[in-house]
Amino acid sequence: MKSIILLAASAVTTIAIPLQLRADTSQCPFYLPDGNYEFPHLIVPTNKSDIALGNSYFADVSPNNCETIFNFDIPSSRTNQQCSVYFTFPRHDQLVTSDFKWNGNNTNTEGPGSLQLVQYAYNTGATETTTGNTKPPLGPDPPVTLNGVAPGSAYKAWTGSCGTSGVMSWGLSSTDSSLVYFQDWNPCAIGLWVVYEVQPQSQPQQPSCGQCPDSKKSNHAAWMQAYTGAAKMDMAAAMGAMA
Ligand SMILES: *[C@@H]1O[C@H](CO)[C@@H](O)[C@H](O)[C@H]1NC(C)=O
Ligand SMILES: *[C@@H]1O[C@H](CO)[C@@H](O)[C@H](O)[C@H]1NC(C)=O
Repeated sequence: MKSIILLAASAVTTIAIPLQLRADTSQCPFYLPDGNYEFPHLIVPTNKSDIALGNSYFADVSPNNCETIFNFDIPSSRTNQQCSVYFTFPRHDQLVTSDFKWNGNNTNTEGPGSLQLVQYAYNTGATETTTGNTKPPLGPDPPVTLNGVAPGSAYKAWTGSCGTSGVMSWGLSSTDSSLVYFQDWNPCAIGLWVVYEVQPQSQPQQPSCGQCPDSKKSNHAAWMQAYTGAAKMDMAAAMGAMA
């Protein structure tokens, strides 16, 4: 699909460069944090019928019909961490090995449309035989609607507990748009992801006392404690101002 589009495009240009180098991955809508995300282990498109469409590398969404269910396996090492669900949606020219078809808001254009994400109950999820009429039970959180969805952006749809080592499952659907894509981490990443919200490790910048007179070094520990305490208070005040 991709190569056909690019070959067609290259027919009208005189610059002959390898196709893969055309993708600009320097400005991805989102970069998956190394070692801190999950790829879906099962992707099951469904439509409103009793037909099981099975496991797929492609997600399929169409207005009020096709919904794709994604299962993510959360390892025990992530028990009760914070997880977020992202939908990342680069432009065609930002994709190296994947591509998509998007018709936003019941048009034949790639303009903005909406997507819905529904949460399925933890440790249920889809199987290869799931159909539109045998979806898993819904999870406790309400569906999330992403509005103004268009290529070139990434969306954080949900943040919550990663649970206790099991299957986290989400359904991607739409009331007004259609989407088919090949789920791919290759930059730029396209698709649905669970990202582990690792607590920021960065401490407030600590002043070095390596250059200061010996008299000050003796007070270093106390001074440092006061400094970081004040920095923490500043941060708390800043967060309060943001809320
Ligand atoms: C569901 O998909 C199957 C297989 O492609 C197709 O035969 C059927 O017509 C589809 N049903 C609906 C309601 O889209
Ligand atoms: C979607 O299309 C409808 C009907 O044409 C229009 O009223 C609405 O503003 C559009 N929504 C967006 C987000 O473009």
